[in-house]
Amino acid sequence: MKGLVLLLLLPFSIEEAAVYRSANRNQDHTPGTHYLLDPIHNVVQSTRGANVTLPCILRQRPRNYKVKWSKINPIDPMENLIIITNGKYHKNYDKLKGRARMRRSHRLDASLVITNVTLEDEGRYKCELVNGLEDQSLTLSLELEGVVFPYQSREGRYRFNYIEARQACEEQDGRLATYSQLYQEWTDGLDWCNAGWLLEGGVHYPIIVPRDPCGGDLPPGIRSYGPRDQLKDKFDAFCFTSALKGRVFFVNGPMNYTEALNTCLALKAQIAKVGHLYAAWRFFGLDHCDGGWLADTSVRFPIIDPREKCGGLPDPGVRSFGFPNQKERLYGVYCYAPV
Ligand SMILES: *[C@@H]1O[C@H](CO)[C@@H](O)[C@H](O)[C@H]1NC(C)=O
Ligand SMILES: *[C@@H]1O[C@H](CO)[C@@H](O)[C@H](O)[C@H]1NC(C)=O
Ligand SMILES: *[C@@H]1O[C@H](CO)[C@@H](O)[C@H](O)[C@H]1NC(C)=O
Repeated sequence: MKGLVLLLLLPFSIEEAAVYRSANRNQDHTPGTHYLLDPIHNVVQSTRGANVTLPCILRQRPRNYKVKWSKINPIDPMENLIIITNGKYHKNYDKLKGRARMRRSHRLDASLVITNVTLEDEGRYKCELVNGLEDQSLTLSLELEGVVFPYQSREGRYRFNYIEARQACEEQDGRLATYSQLYQEWTDGLDWCNAGWLLEGGVHYPIIVPRDPCGGDLPPGIRSYGPRDQLKDKFDAFCFTSALKGRVFFVNGPMNYTEALNTCLALKAQIAKVGHLYAAWRFFGLDHCDGGWLADTSVRFPIIDPREKCGGLPDPGVRSFGFPNQKERLYGVYCYAPV
């Protein structure tokens, strides 16, 4: 009985194994086999707090392979490994740990899922197929929907070196904007005459209406200050922030800064940061004509429908009263309540 089974199975098994081997040899040795499907879109859009999938699909599976996901860091040329998988097991690396996983919806799926997206996740990602012969890769950009705002120190204009600028944005619930984020905001209407640091380390300012005090009649666009010393040279900052979970609301004054802080706390909220106010303006249409204290001790108000009695400026925007004396009792407060 045993013999019979063997006889019945053996020819079939050998044949199958041979076909399998030759198919694999073919795959592995044919130059120019494209194992990775080209993505339809090279840019994946998301928002802060969302879960996002970066697609990477194999056309076919080489016999032995690994898929390696990494992030391309524009400042630091080091490879930032996120995850390596051999199709069965995977190993997580770096600070995305805990938020990155392989999607694996089917056997050819090598897509990366990032949960609870943060501002720092924005950037370019590489999916690399490593099979020892020809490594192949594709890159995708993760872009967050957001808003860019210029930010100046309370000490006045041009007080931040690069590191201070980066820190200032983080303190306002943002991150230094990238060049492409500033460009996007320029196409949305940002015209700003003061130069600020960007994440890549450059110094720029966006101009829509060329005018004398802002570089004269060079064409409209993102103007550049050329290479700058990141420690010694001082400018403002362009910060980027994305939609937020939570609510920004105004409480009537008049109150001084200390009273403003306590008012928000008493409402189980916190005094809003500049980034919170910009996000509420851009994403929730917050429009309010009264100046309110913010966490950095500046006073601002968000305008969607420009009108004469609300500052008079013709375009929507977040207006600023600068950094008044903290004792002044002239303003209300903007509070932020996270959900
Ligand atoms: C993201 O995914 C996690 C788990 O995979 C889930 O718990 C969470 O609700 C998702 N978040 C959103 C915003 O969909
Ligand atoms: C998402 O990230 C934020 C900020 O890093 C954190 O405060 C929050 O708890 C995270 N949410 C989840 C569901 O992991
Ligand atoms: C704000 O006003 C309160 C009284 O309501 C006062 O105790 C406090 O010192 C004031 N704070 C500032 C910074 O002036």
